[in-house]
Amino acid sequence: MNPSDRGREGADHVVDGVEEADDPLPSRWVTALVAVVAFGFGFGSARHAADLRPTLAGTLRDPVAAILAAGAKPAAEAMAVGAEVFRAHCASCHGLEGQGLIGPNLTDRYWLHGARPTDILRVVRNGVPANGMPAWGEALGSERSVSVAAFVASLRGRNLDGKEPQGLLVD
Ligand code: HEC
Repeated sequence: MNPSDRGREGADHVVDGVEEADDPLPSRWVTALVAVVAFGFGFGSARHAADLRPTLAGTLRDPVAAILAAGAKPAAEAMAVGAEVFRAHCASCHGLEGQGLIGPNLTDRYWLHGARPTDILRVVRNGVPANGMPAWGEALGSERSVSVAAFVASLRGRNLDGKEPQGLLVD
């Protein structure tokens, strides 16, 4: 169909042989239509919010960054899990606040293995066995690995007094 045809059909209110009537809708229908649209809108927004929740199983490309970017509640839940894991499994080497002990200071801006969320998650999962950082992927599983990586990423830039900087300055 060329554009001028479409214009003519539009003007005649006939599309593919179906005629458009201009009669006003019964008000009951209008009310029902408004209700359905409003419901759909609310439902759609709720679904949308649910979609923004990071899937901790790691189906997203960068689940740690997704947590950091997520709204208050899902992020707070993941951070709480991450903080718990950190206290239980990481603080012995990295200090209770992440200020460093045997392992590097995780609150400064210097990083040995990269400061991106994906870098942190990789180190948590695979460790750096040759340098004394254990691999945690298997012991913690996906959800807790991602959560603790998000927690570590959130420590960055706190600059707590602790172990001297190691690695490269990352802004
Ligand atoms: C047995 C001691 C030990 C434990 C426990 C430990 N780490 Fe480490 N971690 C290290 C050491 C040592 C390094 C430095 C590795 C290197 O020099 O390459 C390190 C490095 C890291 C790094 C990279 C830092 C950088 O500068 O790039 C991250 C992130 C990290 N650890 C997170 C964790 C998390 C999260 C946990 C707990 C799940 C944890 N570590 C538990 C010893 C430990």
